[in-house]
Amino acid sequence: MKKILVKGGKKLNGEVNISSAKNAVLPIIASSILCGDTCIIDNAPMLEDVFVISEVLKSINSNINIEDNKIIIDNSNLTNVEPDSDLVRKMRASFLIMGAMISRFGKFKISLPGGCNIGNRPIDLHLKGFSALGAEINFGHGYVEAHANKLVGNKIYLDFPSVGATENIMMAAVLAEGDTVLENAAEEPEIQDLANFLNSMGAKINGAGTDTIKITGVKELKGTQYKPIPDRIEAGTFMVAAAITRGKIKINGINEQHLKPIIAKLREIGVCMEKVDDGIIIDGNNDFKPIDIKTMPYPGFPTDMQPQMMSLLATINGTSVITETIFENRFMHIGEINRMGGNIKIDGRCAVIEGVDCLTGCEVKATDLRAGAALIIAGLAAGGYTTIGDIYHIDRGYVSIEEKFKKLGADIERIEVD
Ligand code: EPZ
Repeated sequence: MKKILVKGGKKLNGEVNISSAKNAVLPIIASSILCGDTCIIDNAPMLEDVFVISEVLKSINSNINIEDNKIIIDNSNLTNVEPDSDLVRKMRASFLIMGAMISRFGKFKISLPGGCNIGNRPIDLHLKGFSALGAEINFGHGYVEAHANKLVGNKIYLDFPSVGATENIMMAAVLAEGDTVLENAAEEPEIQDLANFLNSMGAKINGAGTDTIKITGVKELKGTQYKPIPDRIEAGTFMVAAAITRGKIKINGINEQHLKPIIAKLREIGVCMEKVDDGIIIDGNNDFKPIDIKTMPYPGFPTDMQPQMMSLLATINGTSVITETIFENRFMHIGEINRMGGNIKIDGRCAVIEGVDCLTGCEVKATDLRAGAALIIAGLAAGGYTTIGDIYHIDRGYVSIEEKFKKLGADIERIEVD
């Protein structure tokens, strides 16, 4: 079994290049279903989740080739069969193919994605959107099925600005008859990137990135070639790692606009940052102070950066409070950070963090993707050795994370243990 071993105490130094965004590439791959041509995705991140969604598409006869960061997808022979349910249950984002499949074939059956470690992850808003566009939804034992002779544009209000529901409904609406207006839509940069990808295929989408998205149905979409946006959460992860080690690094290939909430909160802590060409310099050699954070839909502070910030705040003297408003169970990393000497208490949706002078390395386990990243960050600053288990969670969302940290001077490696 593989684990990541970190010896803490090294200040990070040097430069790191950010990969393309996992949460942009996954819906983009799903949306390639909407046309029978070939779509090419350049600079794609070689992540476990990308391989899984590619296998899901292959299970419905998509022809996908992944070669040195390029994904070539030919959906001319796609068949409307139920995708492999083990794969769908393995990764929730697989459910993002539903809107495109209903749009292309008029009916589709898929295993219910189920919950995961951070919450029960319902799909009611996705299904509300499909119904509003004219689909009839039926549930079976562990699966959901949709039928629509024709999808017709409609006005849809999302009770919560769900990222996945916004993406799935957008994909169902681009070939619908007439106009769709999606209100209280998610505004994340990944939504905008998906809309840009779909528009490059010939879709007519306006307003993506705001809370109101207008989609004018078109007759067909064509193949395209596209380079997704950089991963703001990977960038944020390295920013926090530089801060906690009091190091100084340059992060290349970022979009500063996408990092605004992360930059704002790190600046509030006292981290020095400077924008240079297509990158940002992070200097952690400063006095830090405790702060409060509340995760919110974009442009609020991203929930996907909450565990990483928890590790940093655990080492800053004083009391910090993190309120997690997006997922109901995204505090599982707290137990692991406390094993390392952290002093964090949970009070409902809030984590009350009493900073300690120094964490101490020990055996910990990644409980989900971003929790795993948070434990690496904690290990980089802890005294002694930290061994992180269940690192398959981390590989879902980070390309060769230990190699990137090693290049920044971290004492980190992937080890094999029996
Ligand atoms: C996306 O998940 C991301 N995943 C998540 O990143 C991210 O944490 C999340 O958006 C929020 O930003 C991908 O893009 C692949 P949501 P998604 O629908 O779409 C509730 C990571 O670490 N909800 O915005 O599943 C839901 O319960 C992952 O990279 C409903 O109630 O998130 C949750 O409380 C983790 N009904 C809230 O909305 C629905 O139909 C946010 O979920 C759908 C969602």
